[in-house]
Amino acid sequence: MVDIHCHILPGLDDGSDNIEESVRMARLAADGGTTAIIVTPHSNIPDSFQNYCGEQYIEAFTRFESRLRDENIPLRIYPGHEIFASGDIASLIKERKLFTLCNSDYLLIEFAFRESPETAYRKLRELVSEGFVPVVAHPERYAFVADDDYAPLRMKDMGCLIQVNKGSLKGSFGRSAYMISHSLIRHRFADFVASDAHSPYMRTPYLADAHSIITDITSADYADRVLNVNPSKILKNEKII
Ligand SMILES: [Fe+2]
Repeated sequence: MVDIHCHILPGLDDGSDNIEESVRMARLAADGGTTAIIVTPHSNIPDSFQNYCGEQYIEAFTRFESRLRDENIPLRIYPGHEIFASGDIASLIKERKLFTLCNSDYLLIEFAFRESPETAYRKLRELVSEGFVPVVAHPERYAFVADDDYAPLRMKDMGCLIQVNKGSLKGSFGRSAYMISHSLIRHRFADFVASDAHSPYMRTPYLADAHSIITDITSADYADRVLNVNPSKILKNEKII
């Protein structure tokens, strides 16, 4: 499996606190059948985590990558960001301050939980018109999705893809996120399921349980598609249909 949303880089955001936690998370991921992770620290959040690409990001990435080698953990990592929807994202990507997912045309985008639908759709439309494919992180957690049954369809029609969180499927983010995430899976409307892991304790990168839940709701084939086939296409910047 390939995890496209994971706060595993140490010390950059509210995810892994230090390199030892990152190693523990990596072991859990590998034990659960994950072979590659696109690392996605929060970024571009006004007055909070900016995390633009620079010395700190590169140092955390290379240090973690060499620890994976030293510890013989069979896991590859690729660069990325979870990009908060604000400011001129396309310019920040062109200036190499923000990473798309593994330098592909796909970018992982998040909103404030109570973002207005107008602002959210305007941002997504802008990104599509710039040639990106926005992957909407955990839509099941946003008010504008909970308030509108057609929101996932609107985003897909625009050219966006949908990433559901493992934790939502398990009920970790409340009843509404649970119901919406199960509905997105049942209707085969999700394009990806990812861990959105923040630690080795609570929100972990172990994905085997997500595979079982999705298989129970739909089929093993669909679980493979959202956890492995589609995420692997991002690594090669291939089209996802
Ligand atoms: Fe996240």
